[in-house]
Order: sequence, then structure tokens, then C-alpha cells
Amino acid sequence: MCGIIGYTGHRPAIPAIVEGLRRLEYRGYDSAGVAYEEAQGLQVIRAEGKLGALDQKIAGLDTASSVCGIGHTRWATHGLPVERNAHPHMDGDCRFALVHNGIIENYAELKAELMAEGNVFHSETDTEVLVHIIAKGVDLTGDVRRGISWALSRIDGAYAFALLSREHPGKIWASRKASPLLMGIGTGENFLASDIPAFLPYTREVVFLDNGELVEIDAGSWQVFDAASLEPKAKEVRHISWDVQAAQKDGYKHFMLKEIFEQPKVIRDCLAGRIQKGRVVLPELDALEVPGRLTIVACGTSYHAGLWAKYLLESWARIPVQVEIASEFRYRDSVFLPGDLVLTISQSGETADTLAAIRIAREAGVPILGLCNVVGSSIARESDAVVYTQAGPEISVASTKAMCSQMVLLLLMTLTWGVRKGSLPDGALQRCLEDLPKLPEALERELPAIRDKARTLSQEYSDARSFFFLGRGQNFPMALEGALKLKEISYIHAEGYAAGEMKHGPIALIDPHFPTFAMALGDELLQKVASNLQEVQARGGRIIALVNPGAAPVVEDPWVLPDVWGPLKSFLVLPAVQLFAYEMAVYLGKDVDQPRNLAKSVTVE
Ligand code: G6P
Repeated sequence: MCGIIGYTGHRPAIPAIVEGLRRLEYRGYDSAGVAYEEAQGLQVIRAEGKLGALDQKIAGLDTASSVCGIGHTRWATHGLPVERNAHPHMDGDCRFALVHNGIIENYAELKAELMAEGNVFHSETDTEVLVHIIAKGVDLTGDVRRGISWALSRIDGAYAFALLSREHPGKIWASRKASPLLMGIGTGENFLASDIPAFLPYTREVVFLDNGELVEIDAGSWQVFDAASLEPKAKEVRHISWDVQAAQKDGYKHFMLKEIFEQPKVIRDCLAGRIQKGRVVLPELDALEVPGRLTIVACGTSYHAGLWAKYLLESWARIPVQVEIASEFRYRDSVFLPGDLVLTISQSGETADTLAAIRIAREAGVPILGLCNVVGSSIARESDAVVYTQAGPEISVASTKAMCSQMVLLLLMTLTWGVRKGSLPDGALQRCLEDLPKLPEALERELPAIRDKARTLSQEYSDARSFFFLGRGQNFPMALEGALKLKEISYIHAEGYAAGEMKHGPIALIDPHFPTFAMALGDELLQKVASNLQEVQARGGRIIALVNPGAAPVVEDPWVLPDVWGPLKSFLVLPAVQLFAYEMAVYLGKDVDQPRNLAKSVTVE
């Protein structure tokens, strides 16, 4: 949801900023821009469309002497995705240039006030209001830091911004409230960015900024202040272990493909140190009571991971579970009970609706457990306890390996609580502890064949305009995820449905041109699914079915996956549906890593 970056140091700023924007492009890509210092003042270059368009504009310019600048890649909220709305924006006198991620909610009112004072606006964005009100603050207070502080006291909404001032070469100011922002601390150079990969080639020393903090950086120093009182604040510098390679394509055509193929490693990393002497080691849960009831709150793919876990948590840990879409949960008047725990699941740790859910739980006095991938993210910091998923940076907009990592950790949580309650089915712990570590190798072996089959089938079904994804039990969330993946990257309409619910309406849609992708694996619900598939076939529907060797229903296109034990089957189903969507999108010539209209990290509601 927009990516911002700032650089001040000793190297040419623009190449470092553009490279950083490339790593942030997953956050939005409808326009991009940079601002940098030059002898004549602040220069702003912006272009509609993806970063390539900005690259072309910059290519003809001599920017080599500029060592300080800011950049932005946009996901439009206010105003069309056209050049005049692209960031950076400037005040009327071109003294300041600003990039912003978030939404200024009272922008209309502030804009009217500023226009009445003679300011002229050139865009429809809320951001242009922000830079004007800061300029006004600086005029009123005679100082940039104090001016920003004054301006922020007038602003409602969410923001992370970075600001250049013509009168202060080499300096950048930034602040955040409810949108992510962090600092990268280098040697003789410092960075600001929405996410770590932006500056990973230069430094792994990171300062996570909190809401309501204001920062001032130059090449050799950085200072953090409370944005309201301007009191200095001490901050911890943390070392990040992600490496540069992890944030690159590494020979794969797309990040999505690379990330799907990383799933064996992700499982290994998630298990590392977690299984010892026949026990699950999850000390993050030690301080929490076993929940009397669990409310899982998440969005998108993370929500599907939560739904998947519900089946296990109820059956093995005997914990009542409700799984909630964060954007609904936050505006419902939920009833909490003593013994409740709220579990938020988020890859980015920055999703605005999920963060809002945390605040609701906090107000209700309910303890909060976060399951997140990004160390130091807002959700991680606002939860009472955090379990990190160890998936590494996920760049592709369509989430893949993050769900796999969430499922591993949710399984380990279930085992931990199940042991504490004594509710696990006989042999489940031992079977999991034996079979889980074997899963990465099995997956590594199978992924190439899964991809081949996905490629063949996607080509065969590429004329379909709609798809059903059907499953029962834990394969129902898998069906939802399969449909979501297909929709988001191939733009083929797809509906995930509980197989048994089809006959209550949706089956009316079935005809020879409306195929079904079914999960018909060898579990206790297979016969029930098989009956549902017969109902589809009786209406002329074509079927692809994920099956295990042996007792599989007869369908047009069986897709045989090797059999693994119990809930571990899902770890093979997941890459199959991911790769089917991937190969379909590639075959149809779609932009796999940056699907239209989407952004990876949704930091607005
Ligand atoms: C966006 C992404 C999805 C993701 C969802 C939740 O919509 O495009 O891939 O599943 O946000 O993100 P989170 O970071 O909270 O898991």
C-alpha cells in the first residue's frame, strides 16, 4: 500500500532509491517518483505506471552528484493513478518535497483552509495537503522539526512520510502513525523505508519506528523524537538476519514461483529448534493460559490459514475457535468471555484491519497473540506474545510461502495446547513429530512434478471463464485459497466452496464450460466429496481433482499427489493450487508478481 524510501549518504542517491523502490514495488505500482537535491533546488521526477516508466525518465538525467533523496511507489487511494497524483508532492514554493503512505482523513477540511489562504493544489491527493500543512507549520514555528510537529497535531489519519527541505541539504525528516516505517543504519549513510528489503543490500541494522515518532537523519547521524513533545527518544538498533539473496529472484522467472519452491526450506526453518526430545518447543506460548476460546483474526490468505487451523485446534486441542475476517471483526460488537485469546495472523504484520482488531481486543482486555512474518512489525509489537513464522521476505503480491509457514506454526501451537490439555488423539503428537521433519524432503522431490501437471492442466483449462474450487474439512480452506490465487493472478473468476454446500444453490452454475477443481484426497471425508463430485458430473461439469493413489473418484482429470499423513496432506495441496494459478497466469500472459489493482501490504482499511 505505497512504498516509501529515503536515502542520505555518500553514494549517488537516485540509483539506490530506484533499486529500493524496485524492492518495494509489491506495495503498489500504479505510478512512481523521486525527489532529490540539486544546486538549483529540489528536483521531482514522476511517472505514471510501473517503475520502468520512471527509470526511462531518469535515464536521460545527470543525477550522479545528488547524495540525498526520497522515492515513492504508489497504490492509489485518493485520485486517479496519473502523473499529477504521483508522489513526491511539493508545497507552493517548492521548498519541501514529500512522499507519503497512508490516508489523511481530514484532508478535505485542511485543503479548504489552505486554499482559502491562497495555496494552489495540483493533484487530487491527500498527500499534497500534508506537504502544504507542514510548510505552513514551518512558517509558523520557524523550524522544520517544530513545523512538522505542529502539522501533525492538525492531521487525522494514517501516515508514514519522508520529507526533504531545500534549505537543509542532506537531511530527511520522517514520521509515522499506523503505516509502517523503519530506518536502516549504515556507515556514513542512512535509510528510511516502508520495508526492510528496500535497503537490504546496504545494511541489516534496523531501527523500527513507533507510532507518533519523528525522525531526523543525515549521512552520519539519526535522531528520534516524540512527534508531539519533541522530546528525544532512545531506540534500539536491531540486526536483521535476512540476506539480500532472499529478496531477489534467484534465477526464477517470478518471485511467486521462487517463493512456492522455497516452501520446503520454509518448513525446515519453521521447525528449526521447535522439535526437541519428542516435544514441541514453543516458549512464546508459555506466558499465556491455554485459551478457553480462541478468536483468530486475519485477512486474505492469512485468514485461510486461520480457517485451516480451526479444524485442528477444535479436534486436537478441544479449543472452541472462531475465525474472523478482520475488516468485519473490527466493526462488530463482539462478545468476549473470560479465558478468550485473540490470535492475529499476518505475513506483513502491517495490515490495517488486523491491527485495528488488536486494538479492539486490547480495549476489551483480551490477551493477544500475534503470528507474523516480519520482525518488529506493528502487529508483532502490539501483541502480548508473538510467534514468528520464519518464511523470509515474501515479495510476490500473491502470498504463498507465508501460508505454508503459518500452517506449520499453527500445527505446532495446536500440539502445544493439546499436550497441555491432554486432549491430543492417540499417536498424533508422535506422528507429527516424526513426519513433519520429513515433509521438506518429500515436497522438494514432488514440486517439479506438481509444476509440470499444473502447467498441462492450466493450458487445457485456459478457456474457462469461471472455476469452482471444492473441498470439505481442512480442504475447504484449501479450496478458498485455490480460488483466491486463481482470481488474483489470472483474473479468472473462481469460487471456493464447501463441497457439501454446492447443492444449495451454486450447482445451478455448473455446465460443460464451468469446471470444478476438487480436493478429493484420501481422508475420512473422501466418500462425501466423491458424492458431491458425482452431482457435478451429472450436470455435465468437468472436474480436476487432487487425489491420493488408490481409492480416488473417477473424474476427467485426476491429479495424483503422494499420500502423507493426516493434516500434512495440506502441505502438498497448497503448492498444487498455487502452481495451478501460477501456470494459468503465465499461460494467459498476466503479470504474475504484480497483479492489477492489488497491493501486498494493505495498510489502509
Ligand atoms: C493483501 C495481500 C494478500 C494477503 C493479505 C493479508 O491482500 O495481497 O496476499 O494475504 O493482504 O496480508 P497479511 O500481511 O496481513 O498476511
